[in-house]
Amino acid sequence: MRVLITGGPTREYLDDVRCLTNPSSGRMGMELARAARARKHAVTLVTGPTAFPDPAGVRVVRVTSAREMAAAVAKAYPRCDVLIASAAVSDYRPRLRKAGKVKKGPARATLELVANPDILAACGRKKGRRVLVGFALESRDGLKNARKKLLAKNLDLVVLNDPGSFAAERIGATFVFAEGAERLPKMTKEKLAGVIFELLDRPHGGECACGC
Ligand code: CTP
Repeated sequence: MRVLITGGPTREYLDDVRCLTNPSSGRMGMELARAARARKHAVTLVTGPTAFPDPAGVRVVRVTSAREMAAAVAKAYPRCDVLIASAAVSDYRPRLRKAGKVKKGPARATLELVANPDILAACGRKKGRRVLVGFALESRDGLKNARKKLLAKNLDLVVLNDPGSFAAERIGATFVFAEGAERLPKMTKEKLAGVIFELLDRPHGGECACGC
């Protein structure tokens, strides 16, 4: 399969030295790319800033902002069979990016934000025969919100992460399908990546993926 993966955080700069971002380490995207490669798939990883080096045998596209990630994904998407979106994309960016370093000003300041494109939702609107997998990190009503994302973005699977999974070594996750959900034991991101590909590599027409 030709597998396209997004990973890592995005950075949305408000001037040349400050940005909005999140603590995503980019490890999940790296582990997914490695697991896909180990299974002999052709892999493109589009990742936001991460300290991890390029995994061997993987085409890696390094980006900074959500808009750059959207452009890189739009380029690779037509030729992929599977998209796994594990990136922690900033939903908003500052409306203006100022040149240089903004000087300290009054005691109160406001920052105007505008919405970023939803990369995965855009792919869901042009799904074709592709398999689409999203990730969701929810602080409450996890199953309900994950299922909402599955339907809204036209996905086959949402990997629901427990809060606290950001930059963590081991994570608790639940597979959420249209027909049901399957809670997985706590495991490393390396193991979780393998479990996701076990599921994706399973031949169609067999047992239902959710085990129902
Ligand atoms: N995603 C994306 N582009 C965005 C936002 C999210 O591709 N601009 C993808 C993520 O990579 C993830 C899925 O959509 O696979 C869900 O992301 P999440 O941040 O949990 O949800 P949102 O759709 O942004 O909704 P909310 O922040 O309201 O929970």
